[in-house]
Amino acid sequence: MTTEQEPGPTQAADVYQQMSMMVTSHWIPQVVRAAVDLSLPDHLAEGGLTADEVAQREDSASGTTFRLMRACVVLGLLTVDTEGRFHGTSLLATLGTDFFDYLAKHPSQARDFSEGLTSTTSLWTSDAAKVIDTTGVKLVVDLGGATGSLLHLLLEGNPSLRGIVFDRPNVIDGAAAETARKGLKDRTDVVGGDFFQSVPSADLYVLKMILHDWDDTSCIKILTNCRNAMTPGGRIAVVEMIIGELSDPGPAALMDMNMLAAVPGQERSLSEYDRLLSAAGLRRTAVLPTSSRQSVIEAVAR
Ligand SMILES: C[S@@+](CC[C@H](N)C(=O)[O-])C[C@H]1O[C@@H](n2cnc3c(N)ncnc32)[C@H](O)[C@@H]1O
Repeated sequence: MTTEQEPGPTQAADVYQQMSMMVTSHWIPQVVRAAVDLSLPDHLAEGGLTADEVAQREDSASGTTFRLMRACVVLGLLTVDTEGRFHGTSLLATLGTDFFDYLAKHPSQARDFSEGLTSTTSLWTSDAAKVIDTTGVKLVVDLGGATGSLLHLLLEGNPSLRGIVFDRPNVIDGAAAETARKGLKDRTDVVGGDFFQSVPSADLYVLKMILHDWDDTSCIKILTNCRNAMTPGGRIAVVEMIIGELSDPGPAALMDMNMLAAVPGQERSLSEYDRLLSAAGLRRTAVLPTSSRQSVIEAVAR
């Protein structure tokens, strides 16, 4: 029989310290958030500033700005020189960086992101694939397709279909490997590029969890590029959670908080998607519910 040992004095100090860290851990994201609100990464990108100088630029209270910046030193976000000037560290610089640019510089985290997304949304992906009709479609582009999981399901469901996984150049090796693993190499091209510049021509574009990453202007640019590249009679299928009425916003309202914190994106209501489509020269033709939280919004050229 084993008996539980009571902690000795040193261990007791350790457990109190551990618990203290647990109950105060919420301080850290609050400090990080305030550092972003004060645009510290931008202000300190070109060189050091005193807390007063930052306060002047931000029109913030100089005393509290100083206290915040001092706390940032403890977290390794700032250093301070002997003249009281604060300097940003490489850790702070990660907050100024666009999310996908950050992943481009950190290949193993980019791989984890793509694979994590694929596995956490795999049920949603198969639900979306079930409702997207590819009858008569020759070529489909999985735009920002990551590992290409949605495209692969569409190809598996339609043996005459060909497809392209289009994603940032740093992501496509993962898509190529996954395509080979699924035995779909002969019907799949993997193309690296930037959907703000141009997209390949095709008759169906699937955009799963793409628009929710971006602000309206960026979404309209992506959709316009699809609209301009699509073959006559082509179609777009946007796969996203749709925010419901204010009295019943549904689970998308929580995901919206995630988008607010991590990227310049947001979850949207159907009328907000309609506005984006219309601004890109497109017209909604269908909203297809799935058995997951996501819906498929289909659109064609106006
Ligand atoms: C939220 S993930 C969605 C991935 C995939 N569609 C899914 O649902 O699993 C967004 C994807 O957009 C890609 N992406 C971001 N910016 C891009 C750009 N400028 N051009 C092409 N792809 C981009 C990312 O690399 C990432 O794979």
